[in-house]
Amino acid sequence: MSKHFLNLKDLTKTEILDLVKQAIDLKGSEKNSDYLHGKYLALIFEKSSTRTRVSFEVAMSQLGGTASFLSTKDLQLGRGEPLEDTAKVISSMADAIVLRTINHSTIEIFAENSSVPIINGLSDLSHPCQLLADLTTYQEENGDIEGKAVAWIGDYNNVCHTYLEAAEILDFELRIGCPNQFLPSHLKENKNLKIFDNPNEAASGASLISTDVWVSMGDEEEIDERTKAFSKFQVTTELLDEADENVIFLHCLPAIRGQEVTSEVMEDERSKVWQQAENRLHAQKALLISLLG
Ligand code: CP
Ligand code: NVA
Repeated sequence: MSKHFLNLKDLTKTEILDLVKQAIDLKGSEKNSDYLHGKYLALIFEKSSTRTRVSFEVAMSQLGGTASFLSTKDLQLGRGEPLEDTAKVISSMADAIVLRTINHSTIEIFAENSSVPIINGLSDLSHPCQLLADLTTYQEENGDIEGKAVAWIGDYNNVCHTYLEAAEILDFELRIGCPNQFLPSHLKENKNLKIFDNPNEAASGASLISTDVWVSMGDEEEIDERTKAFSKFQVTTELLDEADENVIFLHCLPAIRGQEVTSEVMEDERSKVWQQAENRLHAQKALLISLLG
C-alpha cells in the first residue's frame, strides 16, 4: 500500500475492496482494540469539520492510540512557519498526520516532507476518506458496486472528483448531473463517466444518488450565482423515484435542506446518510490499521 493517502487513486481496486470489507468487519466487532496501542495521530485542519475530526479522534481512541486536533490558527504555521519545517517536525514525533486544507498543494508539500503517512482529510481537490465511507455504505446496502450506475447530482466538487476516481478504479458508471458552466473543461465522457445537464436523465437507472452542498468551503463568494444555477438540481423524492428500485441516497454532510436536498429526502427510507456518517469511523479505522498497524 502507498505510504500516503492523498487521493483515492493512491489505492488499488483490491486495496479499496479490502478496506471496505475490513470496515464492515470492524463495525461488527468489539469496538475497542489494541491495534494502534502507543500510536499518535495529528489532525491539522485549516477548515471546519464535524465528522472528519470526530471520526479520526474516536477511531484512534478505540484502536488504543491517541490523537490531537491542531487548528492551523494555533500552530506556528499560522504565524508563518514554513509548511516544510512543520511537516518535518511533526512527522518526527507523530505516527501519521491528517490534513484538511484550503489548497490541495499544501497536502502534497506536507507529504514530500513527512517521514510518516499523510492522510487527506479534505482539500479543494478531493475527499478520499469520504469515499471509503460511501463505498462501505453501498456495499452494506446493495453489494458490489462494479457495473452499477451512480448519479451525482449537483456541483462538480472535491467529493464528486473522488467519485470519478472511484468509478474509474472500481469500474462503475458515474452519471454527473451538473450545469455545464460548473464542470471542469477537461472532463470527457467515457465508459465510466456520463454527463447530463438534466438531473432526471442522470438519475435514471441509478442505484446510488449522491449530492453535496452547492457552495463548498472556499466558494462562498459565488453563493448567489451558484444558488441560481443549481436550483433545478435539487434531490427530491420525485428524483429518487426516477432511479433504480433499490436506490440509496447519500450525502457527505453537512446538508442544507431546501437547497441541494429536500427535508423529505433526508428522512426518506432510501436515505442512508446517518449510516454513511457513522461509517466514516469504521472505514477510517480500517485505513489507520492498514497505514499504521
Ligand atoms: N463529510 C465531512 O467531511 O464532514 P465534516 O466537514 O463535518 O468533516
Ligand atoms: N464539498 C464540501 C464538503 C464538506 C464535507 C466542502 O468542501 O465544503
